[in-house]
Amino acid sequence: MKTTSGLLRMKQKKEKITMMTAYDAPAARLVEEAGMDMILVGDSLGMVVLGYDSTIPVTVDDMIMHTKAVRRGAKDTFIVCDLPFLSYHTDLKETFHYAKRIMQEAGANAVKLEGAGEVVETIAKLTSAGVPVMGHLGLTPQSVAVLGGYRVQGRNASEAKQLIADAKALEAAGVFAIVVECVPEQVGALLAESCQVPIIGIGAGVDTDGQVLVYHDVLGYGDVHVPKFVKSYAHLSPIILEAMKSYVKEVKEREFPAPEHQFTMDEKELKGLYG
Ligand code: KIV
Ligand code: NA
Repeated sequence: MKTTSGLLRMKQKKEKITMMTAYDAPAARLVEEAGMDMILVGDSLGMVVLGYDSTIPVTVDDMIMHTKAVRRGAKDTFIVCDLPFLSYHTDLKETFHYAKRIMQEAGANAVKLEGAGEVVETIAKLTSAGVPVMGHLGLTPQSVAVLGGYRVQGRNASEAKQLIADAKALEAAGVFAIVVECVPEQVGALLAESCQVPIIGIGAGVDTDGQVLVYHDVLGYGDVHVPKFVKSYAHLSPIILEAMKSYVKEVKEREFPAPEHQFTMDEKELKGLYG
């Protein structure tokens, strides 16, 4: 299993870091088998698995249930679990309680918090208490209503400078890595250059220290809108639909189950049954 210092060494050796989300055991098993450096149990869970249209309705209990499943599937992979909407802004005691449950009960190795500003102090408290924290800057979906939609962040010089300052503040607060979402490639590169800790990009260009994508987007599975920065390496939805249609047809037409799918009683017992 990767460690936070192992991830730092990867950055120093310019070895790219791979991360993908997972939300259940079979997905986690495959992600681990593929050799992913880290798994993110993202609150994108709300959209790609639970059917909400944002990450806002996701609860800490949702995150814990799915992180438990992911840990059962991937026993040897570094797992990061998102702290969901408004679970780390009002009451530090509550946030500590959630981080404790996420690590002790669910088996995650780290938590991820979105944003900087007021959140920086909370992150500093968590890291000094021994909780590994990953930051998340740029497009932060939990704040999408404030940002005014899912759009590219840091497009102008002053916004980009603010992102660098935020990343430095997170670094000073002790994060072991930062996800940077949906920024120009040049800003992704500058962030990776300006920070000691690994910058894991999603829609942040090729020069970040690593990449993260959502499992369902990579597989073309589900009906979620796939943004420009995603590459689908497979297109599973039509394959799944075909399989289901075949099943429906074969059941209707009495083709399934075929003889090889059935259990058969002995002749003798059958006689006994009918007298
Ligand atoms: O929830 C999630 O999947 C994320 C990634 C997009 C980084 O936070
Ligand atoms: Na997230």
